[in-house]
Amino acid sequence: MQVLISGAAGFIGSHLVDRLLRDGHTVVGVDNFITGDWGNLAHLSGVKEFALIEMDATANDFVSRMTELGPFDLVLHLASLASPKDYLAYPLETLESGSTATRNMLEIALRYEARFLVTSTSECYGDPLEHPQTETYWGNVNPIGPRSCYDESKRYAEAITMAYHRKHGLRTNIARIFNTYGPRMKLNDGRVVPAFLSQALEGQPLTMYGDGTQTRSFCYVDDLVDGLCRLMMSEEREPVNLGNPQEITLLVFAERIQRMLGTECPLEFHPLPTDDPTRRQPDIAKAKRVLGWAPKVGLEEGLAPTVEYFQGKLAARR
Ligand SMILES: NC(=O)c1ccc[n+]([C@@H]2O[C@H](COP(=O)([O-])OP(=O)(O)OC[C@H]3O[C@@H](n4cnc5c(N)ncnc54)[C@H](O)[C@@H]3O)[C@@H](O)[C@H]2O)c1
Repeated sequence: MQVLISGAAGFIGSHLVDRLLRDGHTVVGVDNFITGDWGNLAHLSGVKEFALIEMDATANDFVSRMTELGPFDLVLHLASLASPKDYLAYPLETLESGSTATRNMLEIALRYEARFLVTSTSECYGDPLEHPQTETYWGNVNPIGPRSCYDESKRYAEAITMAYHRKHGLRTNIARIFNTYGPRMKLNDGRVVPAFLSQALEGQPLTMYGDGTQTRSFCYVDDLVDGLCRLMMSEEREPVNLGNPQEITLLVFAERIQRMLGTECPLEFHPLPTDDPTRRQPDIAKAKRVLGWAPKVGLEEGLAPTVEYFQGKLAARR
């Protein structure tokens, strides 16, 4: 297939590009590099099945420029600010990537009658009152809080995707992704895995927001990419949770990292940011049922290559 993917130079996007190429597809990646990194795709230079275009997916001429590069069989919209640090710094760009950019990518899919997939998020559930979160839960989102630029942009992205499906019969998929980690996350990404790892590797105190009893569920990127590949070929039009249901408190997670790296860095406690969710755990029964998918990589197994990647990045910075 000929695939168009936005956000190709980001963490998940670059791993997905690798997988698509391995599976024999031809890929056009597009990225405006607001958080993306050329280095994530440097290993593909000279690969004739891959082209990388620097362009903003919200640009007025985006649809016409990208349409010229078609036809496409598959259009994947990953472009967005994704870490809280990034979307709080760029709230307007975040809203635009969920709204204008999603519409642009949908338009391209429509022109070619291509399949379309958008990466939504567990943040659609806000600070959930239901646990674990199933796809039928409508969420508990503060529509005007600081995080709303991200949460609402993704809720809008889901809504417009369903509208294109209902109005035009477009073959759409919506992935609700939960916390994912792995190599190619940025050192200064701000999310807890890169934050703890880079602090522990540098012998600095680990920054703990809140008392550490809040939970997260961490999915290794290879598992997530496999889930996305299954979803993009499925006939499931409504959202599907993709994440690892293994729930862990941040205190236990910090201990695991300390034990793994053989360090005893102290924890440095800070107040919990506004609207930070206290519990997060996907119910993946639907993904198992409709995609035959479940994560396979355990936390220690996934952390090993991630640590190795961060060690390399930190060494290169010295
Ligand atoms: N990583 C996670 O744990 C997680 C969880 C839930 C959802 N997601 C979603 O998955 C997708 C990828 O996330 P990620 O973690 O790889 O983030 P990332 O920041 O590493 O990648 C996003 C990419 O999109 C690009 N981008 C942003 N706005 C753009 C625009 N207007 N035009 C073109 N390119 C643009 C950035 O430069 C970057 O390369 C995002 O949609 C994110 O919301 C990720």
